[in-house]
Amino acid sequence: MEDVTQSDQLVIVANRLPVDRVELPDGSPGWRRSPGGLVSAMDPVMRTRNGVWIGWPGGTETDLEPFEDDGLSLVPISLTAQDVEEFYEGMSNATLWPIYHDVVAKPEFHREWWDSYVDVNRRFTERAAEVAEQGATVWVHDYQLQLVPQMLRELRPDLRIGFYLHIPFPPAELFAQLPWRRQVLEGLLGADLVGFQLPGGAANFVRLVRQRVGHKTHRDIVYLPDGRKVRAAAFPISIDTRAFEELARRESVVERCAEIRSALGSPTKVFLGVDRLDYTKGIIARLRAFSELITDGSLDADEAVFVQVATPSRERVAQYRLLRDEIDRLVGRINGDLGRIGQPAIHYLHSSYPREEMAALYRAADIMVVTPFRDGMNLVAKEYVACRYDDDGALVLSEFAGASNELRQAWLVNPYDINGMKAALLEACRADDKARSRRMKAMRRTVLRNDVAAWADGFLESMAEVGRSE
Ligand code: F6P
Repeated sequence: MEDVTQSDQLVIVANRLPVDRVELPDGSPGWRRSPGGLVSAMDPVMRTRNGVWIGWPGGTETDLEPFEDDGLSLVPISLTAQDVEEFYEGMSNATLWPIYHDVVAKPEFHREWWDSYVDVNRRFTERAAEVAEQGATVWVHDYQLQLVPQMLRELRPDLRIGFYLHIPFPPAELFAQLPWRRQVLEGLLGADLVGFQLPGGAANFVRLVRQRVGHKTHRDIVYLPDGRKVRAAAFPISIDTRAFEELARRESVVERCAEIRSALGSPTKVFLGVDRLDYTKGIIARLRAFSELITDGSLDADEAVFVQVATPSRERVAQYRLLRDEIDRLVGRINGDLGRIGQPAIHYLHSSYPREEMAALYRAADIMVVTPFRDGMNLVAKEYVACRYDDDGALVLSEFAGASNELRQAWLVNPYDINGMKAALLEACRADDKARSRRMKAMRRTVLRNDVAAWADGFLESMAEVGRSE
C-alpha cells in the first residue's frame, strides 16, 4: 500500500549548484553564478518553491556544509581531483557529451571513467536519500547523473522521481556505441517521468528501451516487469521571459546599450554571438561566414561588426583547449586581414558577464547569431527574443538547436552550409522593419507563453499524473 505521508518538498539533484565557489581578489572564498543553461532555467523555478538543491560547487574543496545563498537552500557535494578528471571531464564531457551531440567530436571510452561515473552518481544518490523527506519529489537533471534515478529508487521507494535531460538524446545508432548503454537506460528507468527537450529524443529513448532492454512499450509509456510505468515525453525548456524583459527595460541597461554601441564605433549593424566556448556551438563556422561577407564586399567593415562572447568552459578537456586555440587564431587572422586601427571586425570576449551586461548586449545587437551544430535547446536565442520588447532585431538560428522547433520565424540555417549561412546573415541584415517586426512579434508571443514557469509546472504536474495513474 502506498505510504500516506507525502511531502511537498522538491529536491533538485544536478551536477552543478547554481553558484560556483571561487577565490576573490583578496584571496577569500566567494560565490559566482555557474555557467550554462541548466542553472539559468532552474534558478527561477527554485525561487518559487520550497526546495533544496544538491550539486557540486566546482573545485575540489572537501569541507563544505549545506548553506543558504540568496534564498536558496544548497547542499554541496565534494568531488576529488580524480573525480573531476574521470567523472566530470572524462565520462561526462569527453564520452557522453560528444555522443549525445551527434559525435561532433570523437567520444573517448575508458573503463575507469565509467567506474568513476558510477561512484559519483552513487554519492549524489546517497546525499539525496538523506535530504529528501518522506514522499518528497526528487528531480534529477542531466547527462552527468543518469544512474541516480534507479539508485535512488532502490534506496527510497517512497519518493517520486523525475529526470530531465537538458541536452539532446541521440539516435539509437549513436547511443549504441556506448559500452554502458544498458546501464544508462536502466538508470533512467528508475524515474517515473523522463523528460527530453524534443519529442524526437523521447522517441529515441523509448525505442532503445524496447530494443536494448527488452521492455514492453506503448507510445510514450514503458512497462516494467514489476508493474511500474515510466513515461518518456518532451518538455522544451525555457527562460524567465518577463524577468529578462524587465531587466532589458531598466534605465541602466538602456544606457549601457548606448555605451556599447558607441564603444563599438557606432556601426550600422551589430552582429552578436553568445555561447559557452564549446565545439558544438558552431562559433568558427559563423565567424568564417561573417568574415567572408566582408571580404567579398557584401558587408562593409566600417558598418558591420561582430561581437562574440565565449564563456570559458571545461578548460582542461583537450577538445575545448584545441577549440580555444583555433578561435584565437581565426579571430587574430580575421582582424589582421580586415580590421583598422581602433576598429576590429570581430570583438572577441573570452569571459562571462552578469545578466545586466548580457541584456545590454542583446539590446545592442541588430542580428543575433546562434548556429550550433547540435544543441538541446539554446536559451540564448530565447533570451535575445525576450529582451527585444520593441519587436525589433533579427535572429539567425541553427535548425539543429532545439529552439528552432519553437522559433520558426527566425532565419533558420544549416551551420554546415557556410554559403547558406552567409545568405541568411545578409537577408537578416537587409530585412525591412516590417519583416523583422513581424517575425519578432511571433517569436515573442511564443517565448512569453512558454516560459520556464510553464515548463516546470508542466513537468511536475506530469510527474504527479504518472504517479496517480499507477
Ligand atoms: O545544459 C548542459 C550543461 O552541460 C549543464 O548540465 C551544465 O551545467 C552546463 O551545460 C554548463 O556546463 P558545465 O557544468 O560543464 O560547466
